[in-house]
Formats: sequence, structure tokens, C-alpha cells
Amino acid sequence: MYRQTREQPPISVRDPGGTMTDIAALPKVELHVHIEGTLEPGLIFELAARNSLDLPYTSLADLRARYAFDDLQSFLDLYYANMAVLRTAADFAELMLAYLRRAAAGGVRHAEIFFDPQAHLSRGVSLTEVVAGLAEGCRLGDAETGTTSALIACFLRDRSGEEALDVLAQLVAAKAPIIGIGLDSTEVGNPASKFTAVYARAKELGLHRVAHAGEEGGPEYVSDALDLLGVERVDHGVRSVQDPVLVRRLATERIPLTVCPFSNVRLKGVSSLADHALPQLIAAGVMTTINSDDPAYFGGYAEDNYAAVAAQFAFSAAGLAQLARNSVEASFLPPDRKAALDRDIGTWLRLQSP
Ligand code: ADE
Ligand code: ZN
Repeated sequence: MYRQTREQPPISVRDPGGTMTDIAALPKVELHVHIEGTLEPGLIFELAARNSLDLPYTSLADLRARYAFDDLQSFLDLYYANMAVLRTAADFAELMLAYLRRAAAGGVRHAEIFFDPQAHLSRGVSLTEVVAGLAEGCRLGDAETGTTSALIACFLRDRSGEEALDVLAQLVAAKAPIIGIGLDSTEVGNPASKFTAVYARAKELGLHRVAHAGEEGGPEYVSDALDLLGVERVDHGVRSVQDPVLVRRLATERIPLTVCPFSNVRLKGVSSLADHALPQLIAAGVMTTINSDDPAYFGGYAEDNYAAVAAQFAFSAAGLAQLARNSVEASFLPPDRKAALDRDIGTWLRLQSP
């Protein structure tokens, strides 16, 4: 299997036809990344020092040794614990700027970025601090790298629907620059039916709607996200493969899935990349996109995920270009920007040398 190296991401793979493919240069859109999941170990230590916080880790190596997960919950426990270092607007801005720099280096041209307001509110960090910092990080990162970025506020599905409604009202009152809402955290046992009211309200407000579903939960979580929440994209959705009727529906209705291969391997949703459902979903005509989820925790950013699936499943340059085109189509960008990105992907494809 393809080896993950973070410091020097492998950017070229040779496909079966002999084409060298420069994956970091492929223009792409990131549709599934949690900004809190881009918090790298080094930045955790820096922010802890700046905010005079004691960490429960003796060293970077001690922290990194904890990045072996059994399932989604074991990851979430560490992910929420590490957020303790994010206190001020400046911390959030620095986190966002670091992500956009890293993403742009891997060919990300536009990112629709999740954040978890409740995970910060519950620690006593104000919504204005979170939102002002993230918005400033987006402004700085976009100006420096040429990316565009947008924010999607996720509600924690292990908390109540009433709390989600209240947080949405707070986001509106704070004039938070969000383009949509999402749903994340512990999936199994927390059905979409808890959140019908907040999704209905978001629709009234003209916000886009996405939700995690079918990550650890079965295909019924995906159907419920579509039927009860009216989502426009499904985050993960990989367990849809267990239901052929649902797979046909996803394909026919062109409902995009934001697939995160490294995440599924690291959280043991699949036993290895070779067993991932991605090729099956593509073969069934489902609109799949490749994303990083929580790259600081799962061993790679967007282009690392592209490179790994390219190597594992022998995708050609044309196949990778199609995945990138899917990411453009599935985004909430305006048509003229989508057309410009598609043209850039076409240019990239013509430049791949045999
Ligand atoms: N929050 C951050 N990453 C997540 C994931 N992969 N699933 C659910 N909630 C999350
Ligand atoms: Zn996610």
C-alpha cells in the first residue's frame, strides 16, 4: 500500500498507462474538513504555552502515540480534549491560516470548512471569539494563497435538537458568515430525527444543509439524512453500499458523498484501504469526492488522500480529474467559478506527461 508521509507528501504516482500524475497540482475542492481536526501536534503545544495551559502530555511523541484509534468515539475523545488550547480569536485565526496554507500547497482551490460551535461554547469560549477568528483566518489565508473558503457550522448529534436550534439562533444573531449547517460527532444512537427542526429553520434562512451519515451508522442513517433533513450532500455515506436501492438512489439523484479514505481506515470503518467501498460507489455511478476530514489526526491532507486511492485502485490521471470535477460540482460555488475550476482541471489533465 501507498505509504503516508506528511512532511513531504508524495505528489506523483504513475498510473497503469504509464502516466506520471502530479496530484498536488491537480486543482481540487475540499468539502469535508473540520477546522479543529487540522490542529497539528506542534500547534497544540504552541497554543498551550501561549495560553498558559498545562497539557496532559509529556512531549510531542507522547501526544502522537495517542493517535491510534479504535473507532470514531476514541478519536472524538482526543479531538475534543485537544480543543482546550483554542481560547482566543487569534488562536482560531492562526489555525485557519495554517490550514489554508497547507491545503493550497496540495492543490485545494476552494474549501467549505466545518467548525463545531458547541464544542467551544461548552468550554466557555464565546461564539463571537470563534467566528471572528475563523473569519479572519479565512480572509488572511485566501488573500495569501488565492484560495476561497467558506464556513459550515456543524451541530453535535450527541447533544439535543433544542440546543442545536438555540446555537443556530446565536449564529444568526452574531451575523456569523456561514454558508450552511452540518451534523457531526457520535452517529450511532443519535438519529437524524432529533434535528428536523434545526434543518427546517436552516432551510428557511437560505442556508445549505449537509450531514455526516453512514460513517459508522448503517444506510438508514443516510436515507434519514436525505428524507428528514433534506441534505444536499452526505458526509462520508460509505455504508450506503450495504443497501443497493440506496446506492441507485444516490446515483440517480446525483447526491454527492464526501468520502474521506484515510479517516475510514484510521477509525477502523474498513480494515484497510484495499477494502474501501470507493471503487464500488464509483462503479455504481455515485458522485464521490475525496476529502481529508481531520488531516492532523489521520495522516494526510486532501492530496495525500487522492494519492493513496490513486495508488491503491490504479486510478488514471483522467480518473483523478473526474474526482476533482466532482468536488467542484458538489461544492456550493457559483456556476462561473465552477466553470473556471473545471477549465483548470482540464489544463492540468493535458499537462500530465505519459
Ligand atoms: N467530528 C470530527 N471528525 C468527525 C468524524 N469523522 N465523524 C463525526 N464527527 C466528527
Ligand atoms: Zn467529518
